[in-house]
Amino acid sequence: MEIRTMKKSDLEAYGDLCRYCFRDFDTPQSIDRYMSIVAEQLGHSWGAFKDGVLHAGLWYQPFEMRVGGSFLPMGGVAAVVSRPESRSQGLVRELMTRMHQQMRGEKRPLAVLQPFKNSFYAAMGYADSFFVHEHLFEPHQIARRPVGSYTIREVNGQAHWETLEHLRLRCGGNYTGMVRRDAGYWESRYFTSWKGLRSVYLVERPPEGRRRPGSVVGFLITNLSQSNERADVRVAQAIWEDPGALNAILQFIRNLRDQVKEVRWFLPVDVDIFPHFEDPKIKVLLWPKMMLKLVDLKGAIEQRSYHPDCGGAVVLDVTADATSPWNSGKWRVNWDAGTATVRKVQRLTTRTLVIKTDIQTLAVIYSGHRSASALVRQGSLKASSSALALLDGAFLPGVPCMEEWF
Ligand SMILES: CC(C)(COP(=O)(O)OP(=O)(O)OC[C@H]1O[C@@H](n2cnc3c(N)ncnc32)[C@H](O)[C@@H]1OP(=O)(O)O)[C@@H](O)C(=O)NCCC(=O)NCCS
Repeated sequence: MEIRTMKKSDLEAYGDLCRYCFRDFDTPQSIDRYMSIVAEQLGHSWGAFKDGVLHAGLWYQPFEMRVGGSFLPMGGVAAVVSRPESRSQGLVRELMTRMHQQMRGEKRPLAVLQPFKNSFYAAMGYADSFFVHEHLFEPHQIARRPVGSYTIREVNGQAHWETLEHLRLRCGGNYTGMVRRDAGYWESRYFTSWKGLRSVYLVERPPEGRRRPGSVVGFLITNLSQSNERADVRVAQAIWEDPGALNAILQFIRNLRDQVKEVRWFLPVDVDIFPHFEDPKIKVLLWPKMMLKLVDLKGAIEQRSYHPDCGGAVVLDVTADATSPWNSGKWRVNWDAGTATVRKVQRLTTRTLVIKTDIQTLAVIYSGHRSASALVRQGSLKASSSALALLDGAFLPGVPCMEEWF
């Protein structure tokens, strides 16, 4: 079996295999559109070939992802497929191994993916880190409230992408997992309709004085799907700067009540929209949406920033997965003045604080999804109280959130 990056001429076969494997690609147009995105990342797409025939493939989109106060290079892994007759022969594991080696070489220390099955990717070093709440409700359940002077209008998304990006990074919450988007990414993932009708709206607040201009204080991107039986709306993204802007967004959705049966809206788990419902019997599902992997432990820890008060050293005795063996071993992490340095050690002194962990548990702590102390309480980690204090102070728990779908 030959393992190599894909060429443009391989994309037709990769597209056919993706179409065979995933329900999302229900039309030839949708797979053509998807493959045109992959075509821009040929150097990041890997295939396993036998006699020139593609048997398995995957690719990753390069992102800059927020981790605490820094943005780090991350690979968003997608469209992992293998032919049914070639499955369970280790082909995908081999492709993942080659991809992780490439990411490490590019100084891209993090990878994220949306699993079809968590245990499959846990064996390759990934851990559930990004959870979301999926809200399902009918528009009439939203309480009727006056919108005051806020207005909402439909716009051409491409002409306003910079405004949207700015608003998202400023008001979308400082979540670990937030990525930067460029014009092309906004266009292909947020303004283009893959199924249904995509619409982009701006929420504006009028000027306070006569001389001051009005300002954009929110946006809403919806996807309307209609069938003979019913129409549904998915909120692809909504951002608001203040409660008035959120109310304007909700009233807009409420106005769809005679037309739309159900609204589907994914939100970070710390966002509470319940007070806005007249009838709060809405369904909220907790989804373990994305998994995180520390592709290169040293880079992942060194490239992010820490609270300036964080100081001290600990040795992480790490068991790595088979696709990234370089992460195994004893790593001395030293925090000083908001930065960390990491180096491999062979021997331990009696005074060293040591924490034994696998790479998946470390990813959970790193993302902030669970603190080291919380993992000790639930029995997934053992550590002394001094070592715990250091880890808890470095990797502050929070609400990691990955909005993207790839
Ligand atoms: C999921 C999929 C990509 C796996 O491909 P594959 O080539 O069989 O993967 P590998 O052979 O490299 O599997 C690596 C290990 O996982 C195991 N494995 C394979 N499929 C598995 C599954 N569905 N569930 C659990 N383990 C699985 C393999 O047996 C192997 O374990 P082993 O080393 O102990 O034998 C393939 O089944 C597929 O294309 N499915 C349809 C599309 C899909 O769901 N893709 C995933 C999108 S996130």
